[in-house]
Amino acid sequence: MLITFEGIDGSGKSTQIAMLAQWLGGRGATVLTLREPGGTTFSEAVRSVLLSTKHEIHPRAELLLFEAARAQLVETVIRPALGRNIIVICDRFADSSTAYQGYGRGLSVSDVENCNFMATGGLKPDITFFLDIPIETAFERAAGRNGSTADRMEQSGRDFFERVREGYTLIATTEKERFRIIRADSTPQKVHEAVCSEISELIAQYTAKA
Ligand code: TYD
Repeated sequence: MLITFEGIDGSGKSTQIAMLAQWLGGRGATVLTLREPGGTTFSEAVRSVLLSTKHEIHPRAELLLFEAARAQLVETVIRPALGRNIIVICDRFADSSTAYQGYGRGLSVSDVENCNFMATGGLKPDITFFLDIPIETAFERAAGRNGSTADRMEQSGRDFFERVREGYTLIATTEKERFRIIRADSTPQKVHEAVCSEISELIAQYTAKA
């Protein structure tokens, strides 16, 4: 089973992923958590190029780098893990490209979707959580993180993140079956409970089949 988390920077994905992984582990599941871009040595190398403030990267080049990192992760890590019945939880997946490079940067959304298809070989998450928070809250959280400076993507400005958030909302409403929109501006525990209640049924089906 492939579970993905999406949302703008600062939406609390990594906290929720850690909580969910622990919750699933406690129920006897074998869980692998990954992040995008990343998860292989090649994809981590691409990640450092993408996030470095040293480079100015054209939106099409940016898209293709995210896709290259994704293709490597899917083929060498995600598919083999799914083949062994491991629950894979991924911090971002193809929807990030649609939201950030499509809606955010203004590339054609159907071009982005074609690139996503090429990179994933058609692999789709079983369930995707969109952790939705107002831009204000995201910016406040980022400002509160001591010592960390904004990476290249985080320097994209408020309007960009507004478009990304709207993009996610559009994707989530067109793919209602797969998406769960969770308001993520409450406490981590409340968000976790919302995630668990959405996933319980799916997990029951999965363990029944295993
Ligand atoms: P990261 O530090 O992992 O951000 P976060 O903790 O918010 O997930 O950096 C990943 C950045 O890359 C983030 O700004 C979102 C962006 N991104 C894209 O623009 N397109 C993509 O396809 C992916 C996977 C990430």
